[in-house]
Amino acid sequence: MKNNEKIALVVGGSRGIGKAIAIRLAKSGFNIWLTYRSNHDAADKTKEEIEKTGRFCKTLSFDVSDYKETEAALEKKADEYPPDVVVYNAGITRDNLMMWMTKEEWDSVLSVNLDGFYNVMHAILFPMLREKQGRIIVVSSTSGQIGQAGQVNYSASKAGLIGAAKALAREVGKRNIIVNVVAPGVIETDMTKDLSKENILPLIPLNRFGSSADVASVVNFLCSEENMYIHGQVIGINGGLTI
Ligand SMILES: NC(=O)c1ccc[n+]([C@@H]2O[C@H](COP(=O)([O-])OP(=O)(O)OC[C@H]3O[C@@H](n4cnc5c(N)ncnc54)[C@H](OP(=O)(O)O)[C@@H]3O)[C@@H](O)[C@H]2O)c1
Repeated sequence: MKNNEKIALVVGGSRGIGKAIAIRLAKSGFNIWLTYRSNHDAADKTKEEIEKTGRFCKTLSFDVSDYKETEAALEKKADEYPPDVVVYNAGITRDNLMMWMTKEEWDSVLSVNLDGFYNVMHAILFPMLREKQGRIIVVSSTSGQIGQAGQVNYSASKAGLIGAAKALAREVGKRNIIVNVVAPGVIETDMTKDLSKENILPLIPLNRFGSSADVASVVNFLCSEENMYIHGQVIGINGGLTI
């Protein structure tokens, strides 16, 4: 099968890192199913950019933290056209020190970042297993690897994704589904626009924030036939923030 007949599902693909991943995979020849929650303008713009590459793009708006919405949006489509690649990239932050963290801040981050992974996988995994081929990429974070003060909720969700992806890699490897995690450091997107460069740059040996393209190129490699044997791994993309 050629790439131009293949489908990449990019969950949280309207903006930032997900947008760059969707466009990069389209340039590699994948047709894109691009999901997002509510930013229709951003999704439409990304769709236009994808279509300029000559590939097809279908946008799907739903809240990944809602099991029924996710199932309704994905299950039938995936059964008919099992995706070849799935990138679980949707994520939010609600930062606060643990002593001040509200139940809503905890629940909302865990439900989007971690429960959402379950909801999406549950809707699409069976058809992928039937095809006996595929790639799953999970977007975690440096915070999930080493912890980050002020982000106990976010770090827990991103560490949870690492555990989930590793266990899934053990389950589905025999069916020729390759699962990996990328763990970006500080990447310039809407999520990080208020961070102070002055405080953070001294911690990054490469002395710059990452770009979404830095993450997209690694995801593209992991989804390509250049990668046949990296499986169940966590790839840090952080300019040396953790070494
Ligand atoms: N930026 C960083 O420095 C950094 C570092 C490490 C890890 N990450 C991770 O990388 C991923 C992307 O980050 P980003 O900075 O590109 O974020 P972003 O610019 O805020 O984009 C987030 C994407 O996720 C979607 N999304 C959010 N909540 C959703 C929900 N409940 N249901 C469905 N879709 C939802 C958004 O859709 P809408 O457009 O509709 O809101 C958007 O497409 C996240 O998982 C984040 O945790 C980011």
